[in-house]
Amino acid sequence: MDFIDVINNRRAVNFFDPDKDVPDETLRAMIETAAKVPSSFNLQPWSLIVLRGHEEKTRLQSLAWNQPKVNEAPVTLIVLADQDGWKEGHRFVEKNFQEMITAKAMNEDQRQWFADARTSLYGESEDKQLAFACKNTGFFAMALMLAAKNLGLDTHPMDGFDHDAVRKEFNIPDNYWIPLLLAVGYFKKDMELAPPKWRKTVEEIVVKFH
Ligand SMILES: Cc1cc2nc3c(=O)[nH]c(=O)nc-3n(C[C@H](O)[C@H](O)[C@H](O)COP(=O)(O)O)c2cc1C
Repeated sequence: MDFIDVINNRRAVNFFDPDKDVPDETLRAMIETAAKVPSSFNLQPWSLIVLRGHEEKTRLQSLAWNQPKVNEAPVTLIVLADQDGWKEGHRFVEKNFQEMITAKAMNEDQRQWFADARTSLYGESEDKQLAFACKNTGFFAMALMLAAKNLGLDTHPMDGFDHDAVRKEFNIPDNYWIPLLLAVGYFKKDMELAPPKWRKTVEEIVVKFH
């Protein structure tokens, strides 16, 4: 699909065909494509919990404004943003550093410089760590939706859930924020898709402060 078609045809769909499953390979392809998005220092502070079972999706639905799509979609993702994903000693920070050494983009002597650079950006406050985690994971989440559309899938992002209750129910450690849930599946053909929603114009988007 052309990029512009992917952008124009992606919609937050409310109705999923409960009888049309998302094959594992398709879900995998979607995640692999989305993982190509950029992130600060290439730290990639995102993770996904993949829910497929009726029982676990029902538990999530009850904590997500009872939105039926949480359960009707064959796959619902709990998207996680790791607020610790910049810290020295973190598994993926270390992997990132080793990969850069292998790629000759850094050498072992730069370990302290790299740690200091991350600390100067994110070490100051919990707000900065939350922003770090959520902005990077937001790019990933958007790419998941576009990659899904490109594969013929539909999605629905959701903020309408009880954050702390979902954390507790699914044993999600405190270092993760949950920026959104994402239902993934195939649009139920006999339902009507709501007309496209309005968008801000370029003039409304571009601002200047005096
Ligand atoms: C982060 C985020 C959270 C959202 N949360 C919900 C939600 O909980 N329930 C819902 O029905 N729609 C939710 N939406 C869908 C938006 O209402 C929808 O994307 C928007 O109205 C534009 O419509 P479109 O995606 O079809 O273009 C959410 C969208 C985003 C990006």
